[in-house]
Amino acid sequence: MRVVGFCCNECAYAAADLAGSTHRVHPPEVLVVRIPCSGIVDPSWLVYALAKGADAVFVAGCRKGECHYVDGNFKAESRVAFVKELLKSVGVEPERVEMFFMAASEPHKFVEAAKEMVRRVEELGPLERKGAPKREGKKGVIASSLLAIAKTVIDAPLPEIPGFRVPNFSSECIGCGACVETCPERALKVRDYNGKRVIELNARRCTSCGKCVEVCDEVEKALTLGGMTLKQLLEEWSVVSAHDLVECEVCGRPFATQRELDRSGSPKVCPSCKERLSARAMVVGRVGP
Ligand code: FES
Repeated sequence: MRVVGFCCNECAYAAADLAGSTHRVHPPEVLVVRIPCSGIVDPSWLVYALAKGADAVFVAGCRKGECHYVDGNFKAESRVAFVKELLKSVGVEPERVEMFFMAASEPHKFVEAAKEMVRRVEELGPLERKGAPKREGKKGVIASSLLAIAKTVIDAPLPEIPGFRVPNFSSECIGCGACVETCPERALKVRDYNGKRVIELNARRCTSCGKCVEVCDEVEKALTLGGMTLKQLLEEWSVVSAHDLVECEVCGRPFATQRELDRSGSPKVCPSCKERLSARAMVVGRVGP
């Protein structure tokens, strides 16, 4: 059995240290990782530790309102809650991850936290793994770690926390692709195939910068930044918007969405046919130079 505890240097680690120096017995299965503040813990660290051999992980920080970096322990708390949801979505017991708060003068709280996590693993049993996580960016690490420990995969909306928000497309989207052009991370792509225009999102690349939302606000206000789904996190590319394409009345090639044409008031003629027709009209003298 292995339990990993990420302990903030200011209070939780000091509490663990005091527990040792005052000869309080705590479980040897707990591996303490000393960190400056619980606020630096990333969700990827927690799931990576689980995928690499820990049966449970916990984060221990200062008491609420006493973080030496103002609100690090609140950030850690929301990230732990996020990881619990991730675990639930892949059929793993959320009790395998927990957050604890303690003061430097409370060694008994560290001992209680360590014993509690060991008790949970004894109850739940060891965590089974079927693969190794890949080290490909924070979200890539989360995705591969989850797949390594997943029992089932239930697609569900994940809680919205900073860094894990992506553009959500509403039915107002006209499929113009302005968001794709503006994305600095190439987290969006658009392609026309089989008579459809499809916009796809790579949630792992998205940094929640909101540039796509800004540009869409100038066109249709069809995008908002919101939570991602588990499927979007696990899959590299996922379809976020799809539209039927209208066929050109001249060549028959599907070329634009109906809503794009409505918005611009253009006829159902594709750009290349338009060019060809206007060139021909100039040759026969119907249009002046
Ligand atoms: Fe302890 Fe931030 S310094 S939680």
